[in-house]
Amino acid sequence: MNETRNTILHALSDGPVSGPDLADRLGISRAAVWKHVEGLREAGFDVVSADDGYTLASIPEYGGPAVVYGLDAPFDVEYHESIPSTNDRARELAEAGRAESVVLANEQTGGRGRLDREWASPPGGIWMSVLLRPALPAAHAPILTLAAAVATTRAVRNLGVEAGVKWPNDVLVPGTKSDGQGERKLAGILTEMEGETDEVDWVAIGIGLNANVHASSLPDGSTSLRAVIGDVSRREVVQTILEELDDLRTDPRGILDAWRMVALTLGRRVHVETPGDTVVGDAVDVAFPGSLVVETETGRVRVHAGDCEHLRPTE
Ligand code: BTN
Repeated sequence: MNETRNTILHALSDGPVSGPDLADRLGISRAAVWKHVEGLREAGFDVVSADDGYTLASIPEYGGPAVVYGLDAPFDVEYHESIPSTNDRARELAEAGRAESVVLANEQTGGRGRLDREWASPPGGIWMSVLLRPALPAAHAPILTLAAAVATTRAVRNLGVEAGVKWPNDVLVPGTKSDGQGERKLAGILTEMEGETDEVDWVAIGIGLNANVHASSLPDGSTSLRAVIGDVSRREVVQTILEELDDLRTDPRGILDAWRMVALTLGRRVHVETPGDTVVGDAVDVAFPGSLVVETETGRVRVHAGDCEHLRPTE
């Protein structure tokens, strides 16, 4: 949303405020004020006009302007009712030179997950990609994926959902079984990037959070916020994720501690399928920029990437 429209919106929320008063405050014509008010109405903001001026009666439930309104983080938000993949769109924006942008969709028709898997993205979920241009070497970029998992976990914990992170970045709801089994996946992260070894050009952090969707429309082993606590305000959840992520990215090395605090994997027996190997042992720590430290029968190893499974303590 442009700055003038945003300023008008905030003035209206403290309203009533008259058109001439707004025009004076902003140094624009009354016709321009009227145009902005119409633009806000088209975006779904209920601007009521009475004798004493304009007032903001309600804001839209979801969408780009709704997320930007009241957002304490410096992102533009582009909203789509339906799109193949927000990560693909973020790539297009990156190639067009954009930065600090978020692509948000109600539905994805070609949602992609890690390891070339499909990602079911029915209407009602939170499907978003955050496009950043961080001053980081490419090898450090995985830390941002961990940050996104922490941000997402914090956002759902705010709602009272007892979620945690399975390495590297699956947000899970713990199972009820005493051996830790039965965890279900609530959210996943897919980070894609371009750049040189010494510096990332851009990173698109794709976050898929099963929000207001039926668990029956998701793969086995998944769950949704609707199934756990009922439908939520996606606008508020997206705002919290973006604000947390914006905060975490200011201190890349501090992200590890934040991750440890929400980790479900540390202290667990794990089976990790890496691109060239299988590692089985006890997960003891995470190391910058996001490797899992595993104590195996033959010693301590660092796993940089792979598919991790939590095992029963005896396995
Ligand atoms: C995973 O496999 O766990 C990662 C899933 C990532 C899904 C998100 S939804 C928004 C963004 N767009 C995509 O196509 N994928 C990511």
